[in-house]
Amino acid sequence: MLALYRSQSDACVNFQTGWSRATSRDKQTAVPDLVQIDDPDDPRLADYRQVRERDLVGREGRFIAEGLVVLEKLIQARRHPLRSVLVAEKRAAALAPLLAGLDAGVEVYCAGQAVMDAVVGFPIHRGVLAVGTRAESDLASLLAGLPAQALVVGLVGIANHDNMGGLFRNAAAFGADAVLIDDGCCDPLYRKAIRVSVGAALTTAFARAGSAGALVEALAGAGFDLIALSPGGDTDLAAVTPGRRTAVLFGAEGPGLPLEVLAKCRTARIAMAGDFDSLNVATTSGIVLHHLAAALRRRWPPGALS
Ligand SMILES: C[S@@+](CC[C@H](N)C(=O)[O-])C[C@H]1O[C@@H](n2cnc3c(N)ncnc32)[C@H](O)[C@@H]1O
Repeated sequence: MLALYRSQSDACVNFQTGWSRATSRDKQTAVPDLVQIDDPDDPRLADYRQVRERDLVGREGRFIAEGLVVLEKLIQARRHPLRSVLVAEKRAAALAPLLAGLDAGVEVYCAGQAVMDAVVGFPIHRGVLAVGTRAESDLASLLAGLPAQALVVGLVGIANHDNMGGLFRNAAAFGADAVLIDDGCCDPLYRKAIRVSVGAALTTAFARAGSAGALVEALAGAGFDLIALSPGGDTDLAAVTPGRRTAVLFGAEGPGLPLEVLAKCRTARIAMAGDFDSLNVATTSGIVLHHLAAALRRRWPPGALS
């Protein structure tokens, strides 16, 4: 076992030469022990084996996160518990401050680049992977926990992981309180969706709502003003004013939102040049959430709610 220490003013880590060294200059924060792994067949790395193949068959209640920024978000948000982290030897020193934020009991494995590549099944340049356990909210408790002023994203039939990642990224960037997905949506915790979301899929509350109809009913029942986005929407987005509880609904590339959903909502459009068909759904969400978040701040500035 190897031990790393982080000092507040001096990242005192030295992977090559003796670990349990800590400078006496200032306050120390212990970093978890690193477990050195030299054998690609080591069973402790089972969660990291053949990552791409495992993407296809699923991870039985777990997910895999890649890269420093995503891991930072995962650790800070504490929404989904971490099981273990795998770091490349060459990145271990630089990662010490981050690893100091891990909860006790999270295993941190360390391997040379060749071992890591062999385990994962492809050259893994990011130098850090983590495995977590899904802690998804159920719909009722998610809705019950939302504040009096809330902005929620509802997704119907989003089957593409890049779009799912982009939608979560925008939801987080513009302060949406939660994302609801219908049963036609792909998994926001699929590896690629997490990566494209830059970790937002791990930090944003989300719940599965069942059918598109059930999603709409649940939001309406919780007092949400429903705005469905469609290129043929009735109102130009610029003229849309949100209610205190607003949900914005987005549909899939190709079919868009089902007619039954559109019929139960106010509909809004982003005007486009000429007779252009539509925008990408994630791009649409960025424009819409930017507009609505700003409008909400204007109508109910932070602190205005009692
Ligand atoms: C590629 S579009 C689907 C296009 C489909 N032909 C339709 O009519 O909805 C995917 C989703 O992005 C959103 N979207 C795309 N362009 C939009 C626009 N100009 N105005 C409002 N929503 C738009 C809608 O939510 C739509 O369901």
